Amino acid sequence: MPTDARPTTDAHPTTGTCPATDAPGLPTDAPGLPAARGPLSAAVLASLRHPAPTHLAPVLAEVPADPWGEDVQLTLYVCYELHYRGFAGVDPAWEWSPPLLALRGRLERAFLDALRREVGEPPPLAEVLAGLLVEPPDGDGPSHHLLTAGTRQQAREYLAHRSLYHLKEADPQMWAVPRLPNPAKAALVAVQYDEYGAGRPERAHAELFAAMMADFGLDPTYGAYLDAVPAPALAVVNTMSLFGLHRALRAALVGQFAAVEITSPPGAARLAEAFERLGATPRGTLFYREHVLADAVHEQLVRHTVIDPLLTLADCPGPEIAFGALAYLRAEDRFADHLMAAWRHDHDHDPAPGHDPDPASGYGHGFESGSLRAPLPEFDPGPATTGSPVPEGADR
Ligand SMILES: [Fe+2]
Ligand SMILES: [Fe+2]
Repeated sequence: MPTDARPTTDAHPTTGTCPATDAPGLPTDAPGLPAARGPLSAAVLASLRHPAPTHLAPVLAEVPADPWGEDVQLTLYVCYELHYRGFAGVDPAWEWSPPLLALRGRLERAFLDALRREVGEPPPLAEVLAGLLVEPPDGDGPSHHLLTAGTRQQAREYLAHRSLYHLKEADPQMWAVPRLPNPAKAALVAVQYDEYGAGRPERAHAELFAAMMADFGLDPTYGAYLDAVPAPALAVVNTMSLFGLHRALRAALVGQFAAVEITSPPGAARLAEAFERLGATPRGTLFYREHVLADAVHEQLVRHTVIDPLLTLADCPGPEIAFGALAYLRAEDRFADHLMAAWRHDHDHDPAPGHDPDPASGYGHGFESGSLRAPLPEFDPGPATTGSPVPEGADR
């Protein structure tokens, strides 16, 4: 929507309700705004409570030094969410607000530079893709831990972290569709058709994930755990949105897409088994069982019918596809390190590396226990919270 087409009605300056978008009596599927995690996110969140565009506070000239930190990652997440469902009471015209886009661009350049530094010079694409097919024999990440020694509470934490992506699963990759040539586009859409339930809304992967959350006593509402999820998990989702929202990064998005589809089946199999061990009903394992089967097919489609035709294009070089895959996996590794450090801390009561107590700022969180920024109370979904029926089993 061009900025000059924005609604002319004003948001209420104190309650943040936006009459143009929050029709009285109708529910919204947009989450509420999160709490700030530093001066940058505080300034942006305060601005979003007013109609767009508005003057941004002077603090926005100061971009925090750590692109992986809580303040930057939350600000990026909020900026990106304006392109998905937005936030309840926030003027939708903020999506294309020039001053906010300019700020987002500065944060993105810092984050993209950090990703490129972490990846370095990528190996040849064929080598990267071949490597993704091989599971390390000594794997010790969260899915391994949950399978062998994880607790139900750790499984709940894992799902709360993952909910920010999986409740909008496949959405970031849809940005690629109009940016691909027809053969690659046809193959990508075939995969996405499965992700969105192949014509059956209750089978959409986001719905299966919501059903799994309810089975574990978690709130399956879109964005319900945004305040609880720390920067390492936000960075995983932000990597996808960054690649998805820039045509210049379409090759990197295809690489990210390939990395997910190729690496997912073994981890999904471990998590299905782990959750069964931890008392999940069939509704609580179907999401991962579905991915064991579906992603084995998707992996072939992505490698041979999405990537291969792209390699003939000047602006889709193999190294950039490899970068996208490796950058996404680096973000995933940081998330895995965060989880395992937190769980080891809970087990050993040792200081957990990477945790940011930041007690004086008023924004930080000490992660006194667990891997989230907030407690995770049991949630009673009631009989009608999700539309997902009792699953029939993985039928593909
Ligand atoms: Fe999926
Ligand atoms: Fe898939």
